[in-house]
Amino acid sequence: MRRTTLSRYLIEEQREKGKINADLRLLLEVVSRACKGISIAIGKGASAENGGVFGEAGSENVQGEAQKKLDILSNEILLEANEWGGHLAGMASEEMAEPHSIPNRYPQGEYLLLFDPLDGSSNIDINVSVGTIFSVLRCPDGADPTQSSSFQQAGTQQVAAGYAVYGPTTLLVLTVGDGVVCFTLDREYGSFVLTHEDMQIPADTKEFAINMSNARFWDAPVKRYVDDLLAGANGPRGKDFNMRWVAAMVADVHRIMTRGGVFLYPIDSRNRDKGGKLRLMYEANPMAFIVEQAGGAATTGTERIMSIVPTALHQRVSVILGSKSEVEIVEKYYREMN
Ligand code: F6P
Repeated sequence: MRRTTLSRYLIEEQREKGKINADLRLLLEVVSRACKGISIAIGKGASAENGGVFGEAGSENVQGEAQKKLDILSNEILLEANEWGGHLAGMASEEMAEPHSIPNRYPQGEYLLLFDPLDGSSNIDINVSVGTIFSVLRCPDGADPTQSSSFQQAGTQQVAAGYAVYGPTTLLVLTVGDGVVCFTLDREYGSFVLTHEDMQIPADTKEFAINMSNARFWDAPVKRYVDDLLAGANGPRGKDFNMRWVAAMVADVHRIMTRGGVFLYPIDSRNRDKGGKLRLMYEANPMAFIVEQAGGAATTGTERIMSIVPTALHQRVSVILGSKSEVEIVEKYYREMN
């Protein structure tokens, strides 16, 4: 049986389909290598040297959230892997207030890489799935890649996006704007192998993901939507729905990519002054790109996520994404009730 490795897939996207150039291919290879490194670090857990990689780092990120040792280590793995290849103009991360410049001793490329190095990091200590999310943009002509403004482009400008899930297996899900593919890390060979071609999110679903403990803070359209789902077969939807919440966006989105569903982390009365909870540029946009490429939809409730022109690097946003018909119902409720 012919196995398609990530390298082969990328070479074919470049050579046969002309979808990516050599620099973008290198970038994606390097990001995947970094994800392998993160996967290995996570796998060592508490058994690693110097007390292991779990636990608090004793510092805070730009959002004022406590950093875990693995947040910092994953960030360093991604920075270190990507800064010398010559394919990048700059990088930005959830863990750094300002963009990371490529040192002068290395050549500069045309791309900008944004990432959440370790999504869902509160799951680490309890040995539940976490992930890495990334987005690739072009550095605009003449723009200064040390400035946040160069990164502040709408999600529609992304040339590639992906996420790795570090779960029972390590997976890499990727789009270069040519559908969505999923690779599984074969640990014996050390390669990502194509295991799901052309991932498609079913339009209809019976599953939803939301942190129900926030219900008292929700806006009326979200409350109405979730009430409809909870009413089940006897309610307006006429069927029973199931609920799941892993509390790591990568894992919740991956479930939706695999068997459909809808994910909501909406703006609410508690997070309104911040604009929402999830970050636009390295969480919502890459996930929106992947979900749309798989036939799904991603909205704030009132606008398409990928249309938003960011005004800040670490901007937050309301996120409702997944199976298209469900996302459309939430949008309809927002239209009717606003
Ligand atoms: O990035 C933040 C994040 O960890 C997401 O991965 C996840 O979906 C969400 O926060 C979980 O938030 P909460 O702890 O409020 O349920």
